[in-house]
Amino acid sequence: MSKTSEFNTDEESGKDISKRFRAGCWKPILCGFIVGALCAGIALGALITQYIQDLQKTTTTTTTTTISIATGLKFTFPYFNNIGAYLFLVSLTQSGVQLDFDPNSLPSGWSLCYNNTYADTMDQSSLSTILSSCNKTKLLLGCRQVNTVKLTVAAMGNRADVLYDCSTTENCTQIANGVGWYYSDSYSWGFVNGSDAVERNSCDTGSTNDAYRLCWHTDGGSGGYRCGTTTGLNSDTTWERIIYHAN
Ligand SMILES: *[C@@H]1O[C@H](CO)[C@@H](O)[C@H](O)[C@H]1NC(C)=O
Ligand SMILES: *[C@@H]1O[C@H](CO)[C@@H](O)[C@H](O)[C@H]1NC(C)=O
Ligand SMILES: *[C@@H]1O[C@H](CO)[C@@H](O)[C@H](O)[C@H]1NC(C)=O
Ligand SMILES: *[C@@H]1O[C@H](CO)[C@@H](O)[C@H](O)[C@H]1NC(C)=O
Repeated sequence: MSKTSEFNTDEESGKDISKRFRAGCWKPILCGFIVGALCAGIALGALITQYIQDLQKTTTTTTTTTISIATGLKFTFPYFNNIGAYLFLVSLTQSGVQLDFDPNSLPSGWSLCYNNTYADTMDQSSLSTILSSCNKTKLLLGCRQVNTVKLTVAAMGNRADVLYDCSTTENCTQIANGVGWYYSDSYSWGFVNGSDAVERNSCDTGSTNDAYRLCWHTDGGSGGYRCGTTTGLNSDTTWERIIYHAN
């Protein structure tokens, strides 16, 4: 008896058909059940991740607890945590360099991970500490005068672009999300708008679209350098550097 005629035999009783059906179909049903359970698990993991992110954003008193819960979740369910980050992906909402940017307008999921004045020097050791706090997949660099809210200049990008190692190359940038990024843990770190040319000496002294330029020294010798058109901030305590991060 060929396979196609198997279920079409008129003489075959309904009982037999249902028996064959059950015998042949338990595997797909089981597979469907397992896939369904996995999806439910992933969705739950994603919801928990988002819930914790929201807690971190809106509460100040329970920050320590929720961060430790989040860290626990990360270690206990790294898979779910990553899927969660995927499902609730915080997209790069701003493209290009932003002027006079209010960080409170950032979507839920972004949080402050570094702020200090331009007088604070950055070197390999302090950068390693900063980057272990700013450990998410998206970074926003900005600067402003102390006691102000809005960032004079700011830009966001994927971590690999924001930390694109240009070493000591004078005109190197990694153009991504409308921003020209450069980084080195022993020279300078910053951005220009789009494809504008950078002039790293070691910080960027370029003047095209100067309002759109940010540069921080990372050689440990001096602090920041510029926040837009304001330059020479190497030991300045009235301007601050800000980093936000998100997944
Ligand atoms: C960093 O931010 C906190 C909270 O907004 C603020 O209290 C503190 O003064 C800031 N520190 C610097 C050095 O800007
Ligand atoms: C990531 O950074 C946060 C602070 O922004 C810190 O509390 C947490 O321990 C860091 N996670 C890891 C795995 O280093
Ligand atoms: C950088 O400078 C080098 C040498 O002056 C030049 O050959 C190169 O085209 C420049 N690259 C960019 C992207 O401007
Ligand atoms: C900044 O760069 C973006 C993207 O390349 C471009 O659309 C925009 O016109 C530039 N802004 C200025 C002021 O050049």
